[in-house]
Amino acid sequence: MGRVYNFAAGPACMPEEVLREAADEMLDYRGSGMSVMEMSHRGKTYEDIIYGAEADIRALAGVPDDYAVLFLQGGATTQFAMVPMNLAKKGKADYVLSGSWAEKAAEEARKYLDVRVAASTKDSNYSRVPDLAGVPFREDADYVHICQNNTLFGTQSHSLPDTGGVPLAADLSSCIFSGPLDVSRYGLIYAGAQKNIGPAGLTLVIVKKDLVREDVPGNLPVMLRYATHLKERSMYNTPPAYAVYMSGKVIRWIMKSGGLEVMGRRNREKAALLYGYLDNSRLFRGTADKGSRSLMNVTFVTGDEALDAAFVKGAEAAGLSGLKGHRSVGGMRASLYNAMTRQGVQALVDYMREFEEAHPC
Ligand SMILES: Cc1ncc(COP(=O)(O)O)c(C=O)c1O
Repeated sequence: MGRVYNFAAGPACMPEEVLREAADEMLDYRGSGMSVMEMSHRGKTYEDIIYGAEADIRALAGVPDDYAVLFLQGGATTQFAMVPMNLAKKGKADYVLSGSWAEKAAEEARKYLDVRVAASTKDSNYSRVPDLAGVPFREDADYVHICQNNTLFGTQSHSLPDTGGVPLAADLSSCIFSGPLDVSRYGLIYAGAQKNIGPAGLTLVIVKKDLVREDVPGNLPVMLRYATHLKERSMYNTPPAYAVYMSGKVIRWIMKSGGLEVMGRRNREKAALLYGYLDNSRLFRGTADKGSRSLMNVTFVTGDEALDAAFVKGAEAAGLSGLKGHRSVGGMRASLYNAMTRQGVQALVDYMREFEEAHPC
């Protein structure tokens, strides 16, 4: 079998052009005589790669100068702890529960500070995001935490809350760089790379420098302090060198493709193609409320588990991979990150139509 259309939620598909370029450079990176995997992170060649990736992220997303761009490890899950550990001053934070990842973030934060749930849609099994208009946040909270795209439930917040000056800390793991991003609206953004940025192993953090405190508790491990990584420009220890290199290529691919506006337009078109089909289908239905639909993760069911399983199996055989929904939601999930092509989404819709015709209800 050749390459498939990979709809997995993460690790996810990468732009083919990027993979080919990396393949070309695998044995001898631009005359260095070695692979990027083999080279010292302290050498000039690698410094150009990592600082180049940082500069490109700054240019792509218009990151203001008073924000740091950090390349860390430990996944978004480590940020669930690093955010409260580093941002706690008064010892209070407000959390918005929009899905399981937001819940996990709040649970972890409870170990370090007083967490108040500002809003939650758990009672609707997270089929929609909380409406945050008019929701009061504590004025003396150290930050307000949101998860902007709920990978499991296929929901997304399409606007940001007014936190009244309290810094917004946001998990953007599954929607970063999928469209225009106004970094200045956030105090801190974090994202595991393995969906829209590059391979697993890298965690991107964009943080307002004045939130990065030196005076965190003395027993906080050096690797868990933002201040360490800010001071050393993500090179305190060996960075996830190859993941940064690949991510740099993906960022340049986005830039070459026209930037975040173009990504946003393409992603809206791809999502409209699939949701449009779902809305007219007699067999399949989307599980997220219309106003909360994610452009990145589209969740849907037939209503019959055996039929869902048959669909996923048949899709796999037809070269449409990774469509099984998360076990907590069931059904199907199609992840339509930047690297998923419109042809891929069209192939999925064509297969859904074929399956629907073969299974009239
Ligand atoms: C929104 C969101 N947050 C956090 C995580 C956890 O990320 P990691 O596996 O990088 O720790 C995921 C993983 O899928 C996610 O989708």
